[in-house]
Amino acid sequence: MVQIAVKTGGQCSARIQVERKAFSMQIAFFSTKPYDRIWFEPMAADYGFGLRFIELPFNRDTMFLAKGYDAVCIFVNDHVDRQMIGWLSENGVRGLLLRSAGFNHVDVRAAKGRIAVLRVPSYSPEAVAEYAMAMLLTVNRYTHKAYGRTREFNMSINGLMGTDLYHKVAGVVGTGKIGQAMIRIFQGFGMQVLAFDPYPNEGQGVRYVSREELFARADFISLHCPLTPQTRYLINRKTIREMKDGVYLVNTSRGALIDTQALIEALAAKKFGGVGLDVYEEEEGLFYEDCSSRIIQDENLARLVTFPNVLVTSHMGFFTVEAMQAIAHETLENAYALEHGLPLKNLVE
Ligand code: NAI
Repeated sequence: MVQIAVKTGGQCSARIQVERKAFSMQIAFFSTKPYDRIWFEPMAADYGFGLRFIELPFNRDTMFLAKGYDAVCIFVNDHVDRQMIGWLSENGVRGLLLRSAGFNHVDVRAAKGRIAVLRVPSYSPEAVAEYAMAMLLTVNRYTHKAYGRTREFNMSINGLMGTDLYHKVAGVVGTGKIGQAMIRIFQGFGMQVLAFDPYPNEGQGVRYVSREELFARADFISLHCPLTPQTRYLINRKTIREMKDGVYLVNTSRGALIDTQALIEALAAKKFGGVGLDVYEEEEGLFYEDCSSRIIQDENLARLVTFPNVLVTSHMGFFTVEAMQAIAHETLENAYALEHGLPLKNLVE
C-alpha cells in the first residue's frame, strides 16, 4: 500500500490508501548525474517503475532516446519547446516530470492537453535560502579567499574586511516559499527586512514596499521570484542605478533575472560590495559539467569570475540530502498519480 495526498474539493486534501500493484511505467531520465541515481533508483524500485538514466541533456538531438517511454524526467537546463512537445506526445510520452520547482524551461502552453507537465513545487525552501545566505556571507566576509590563503600559510587579512549584517537593511524580492525562509534567516541576523512581491504574504514581520523603495534602501538584496516575461532582466542598468553604492546582491533564482552585461559594467565601476550568483543566464551546457580543461568561450562568465567580490556557483542551492530525497519522492509520486489517473496536484498549467 502507498499513501497518496489527494484534493477532496476546495483546498482540502486527504491521504488515501492506494493498492500498489505491479505496473511498469517506463521513465527516461535525462541530465542525470551519479547523485540522481542514489535517490531515484531505490525509490523507483519500490514503486515498480522502470528507469533509464541518460547523462545527456534533453534537447532536439537527444529527445529520440525517449521513444517508447511513458514519461520523460528532466532538469532545470533541459529546454522543451512546442516542437519537442509535439514529438513527445505523438510518440506516446504522457508525462514530463520536472525535477525542479521552476518550469520556465518548458513551453507549458504547448503542453496543455497533450502531455502532463508535473513539477516539484516545494522540496526544501530552506536549502535554497540557507545557501543564499552562505553566498552572501562568503562575498561579504571573504571566507573563500581566507581559505585559499591559509592553505598556503598566508595569514595576512589585508583586503578581507567585511561589513556587519546586524541592523542593516535586507531586501527580499519574491516572498514565496524560499523568500519567506530567507526572511526568517535575515531576521535571525537582526536585520530590518523589506520585501517586494506583487502578491504579498502578509504576517511575517516584514514590511512590503515598492520595488523602487526596496532597491533604494536595501544594503543586501536577495532574489527569490520566478523567471517570467515580467521579471526577465529585473536587474538592469536602470535598476542597478537605483541601488545604493556598495550594495550586495545574491541571485539563487534564475540567471535571466539579471542583465549580465549591465551587472559586469556596474561591477567594473565598483557599484557592488559583493555579488553571489548561483545561477547564470547562459548556464546551459556549462553548469553541472566539469569544464576545467575546456577553453571557456563565454566572455561574460569568464569576466565575472575575475572579480574578487563575485562568487559564482553552479546552480546548487537546492543540493542537500533533504531536498534530494524530497525531489525523488515527489517526482515519483507525480509519476504514480499519472499512471493511476489520480488527481495531479503538481500539474503545471
Ligand atoms: P514560489 O512560487 O513559492 O514563490 C515565488 C514568489 O515570487 C511568489 O510569491 C510570487 O508572487 C513572486 N513573484 C512573482 N512575480 C514577481 C515579481 N515580478 N516580482 C517579485 N516577486 C514576484 O517559488 P519558490 O519556491 O520560492 O522559488 C523561487 C524561485 O527559486 C523559483 O522560481 C526558482 O527559479 C528558484 N529556485 C532555485 C533553486 C536553486 O537551486 N538555486 C532551487 C529551487 C528554486
